[in-house]
Amino acid sequence: MSLLITGIGELVTWEEDQPVRRVAALVAEDGMVAWVGPASAAPPADEALDVAGAAVIPGFVDAHTHLVFAGDRVEEFSARMAGTPYAAGGIRTTVAATRAASDAELDANVRRLLAELRRSGTTTVEIKSGYGLSVADEERSLRIARAHTSETTFLGAHVVPPGTTVDEYVALVTGPMLDACAPHARWVDVFCEDGAFGADAARTVLAAGAARGLLPRIHANQLGPGPGVQLAAELGAAAADHCSHLTDADIDALASSGVVAGLLPGAEFSTRQPYPDARRLLDAGVTVALATDCNPGSSYTTSMPFCLALAVREMGMTPLEALRAATLGGAASLRRSDVGHLAVGARADLVVLAAPTAAHLAYRPGVDLVARVVGG
Ligand code: NIG
Ligand code: FE
Repeated sequence: MSLLITGIGELVTWEEDQPVRRVAALVAEDGMVAWVGPASAAPPADEALDVAGAAVIPGFVDAHTHLVFAGDRVEEFSARMAGTPYAAGGIRTTVAATRAASDAELDANVRRLLAELRRSGTTTVEIKSGYGLSVADEERSLRIARAHTSETTFLGAHVVPPGTTVDEYVALVTGPMLDACAPHARWVDVFCEDGAFGADAARTVLAAGAARGLLPRIHANQLGPGPGVQLAAELGAAAADHCSHLTDADIDALASSGVVAGLLPGAEFSTRQPYPDARRLLDAGVTVALATDCNPGSSYTTSMPFCLALAVREMGMTPLEALRAATLGGAASLRRSDVGHLAVGARADLVVLAAPTAAHLAYRPGVDLVARVVGG
């Protein structure tokens, strides 16, 4: 099966020599990009689609979500907007609701959110556990997530559940919980923050995961300065996500280690916190990813276009830098070379926009510009 898309007003491929083409065509064959160039030179295909001057971009790669949960925390959000500060401990409210839900209810919620993500143009998604915090509930969270994506992350170390000490809980996470969860996960993550896990506990969790073949990533420096980014560099983690409070030494560590900085502006929006300084990171040569962090506590959005608009308006990114971070950056965060770009040989996961250029995503905030999603 092949599809020829013509009439592309702006085609974002992220190819090295020509990252953005004007007036282009693309052929997708069996789910892969088979050809890119001027329409006049296009090879024949089974089907044709004329997008009449619209922009075509790679599907978004959302490398940080927490979709397996039940209930919501809208009262907590409303209280926050009235002045109550955000605290990591709110996670426990969702843990109680998640434990009480059936597998079918959790799966239905994941499907609902995945449908939202797709409607917003996301074609690759990472999903974390982390609202179970018992062996059985973390295992089923990952089993449910795995049915929808290969990018699953074991986040048993999200917070310490009530009735146990940090040491007892880390022993559980790195022992029986890891045994049960490792078969369903590609990644291991830890929330390294005051009120969650300190540097030593986080190192123990990530090292144990790595010893079981899971690849480390980390929640770091979200609510204040902390050791998370340095730990990510020390362990060669794929990504340090949040990065809202960074020292110069943290930025140097990200730049020299190649750890991707995952920026999650939906969280700053929803917790009314200062946004991370993407400009500083980009100018230092750090690879930046944008993700939604979709979760019911700190960022209940599935919309990458919304995050992209925030990144441009509030974090010093240009529209194309933000798009790059939401596609190629997400792919780098997940160590994937087959998604996030539209060069020949990549997956033909793409979005046709109801706009002539990709910059419209930030220029027209809050407007649904996703006309069609192909692949994913
Ligand atoms: O990425 N930071 C840790 N985890 C989530 C928040 C989870 C919650 O509040 O339920 C985050 O922001
Ligand atoms: Fe998160």
